[in-house]
Amino acid sequence: MSNQSAGNTKQSNLCRLIYKSDTSWDKLTNESLVELASGSAENNRKSNLSGLLILSGETFLQVLEGPSVAVNALYARIITDPRHSRLRLLSFESITSRQFSEWSMHIVDLYDLPLHHRELLTIKYPMKDDCIEIPDVAELALSLLLDAKAICISETKSEPDGE
Ligand SMILES: Cc1cc2nc3c(=O)[nH]c(=O)nc-3n(C[C@H](O)[C@H](O)[C@H](O)COP(=O)(O)O)c2cc1C
Repeated sequence: MSNQSAGNTKQSNLCRLIYKSDTSWDKLTNESLVELASGSAENNRKSNLSGLLILSGETFLQVLEGPSVAVNALYARIITDPRHSRLRLLSFESITSRQFSEWSMHIVDLYDLPLHHRELLTIKYPMKDDCIEIPDVAELALSLLLDAKAICISETKSEPDGE
């Protein structure tokens, strides 16, 4: 799922969009999440987009980075996707460099993280129904996304084959 082409190259109109939305396990299976991840990664690579999607309980938090035209076009598609509802746009801002260039799209379910990582997150972010509560405040949402990114990267580095 990594995307080498979506690097930190300076581009005009580069932007970052963050939204949160609700889903339900009736609408998702593990297989459909895997398909969503691979289909999104492929689409995003073609559009020079990068990002990360967090699932916590039945809430999504997604960050998308790339040319603003491509980010807006994708968001317009995502809004109509029946797999989630009640989308709340948390931020849309112009950026000079990407924070999530590692992946064209990567999905992380916070519930599946190893306990020591989950415990670190629970110190920092409130819990609700045994799940980390996705913040409504843009700065905190970005902070959670950056923490999740750091965890994903450290997990990858600790894999036995070093991949
Ligand atoms: C939470 C969520 C996040 C999504 N993220 C992306 C994404 O990053 N890129 C993408 O192409 N589609 C994403 N999708 C799927 C789109 O809503 C849409 O189904 C898809 O882009 C259609 O692609 P297709 O025309 O190749 O079938 C997401 C859907 C959901 C529910």
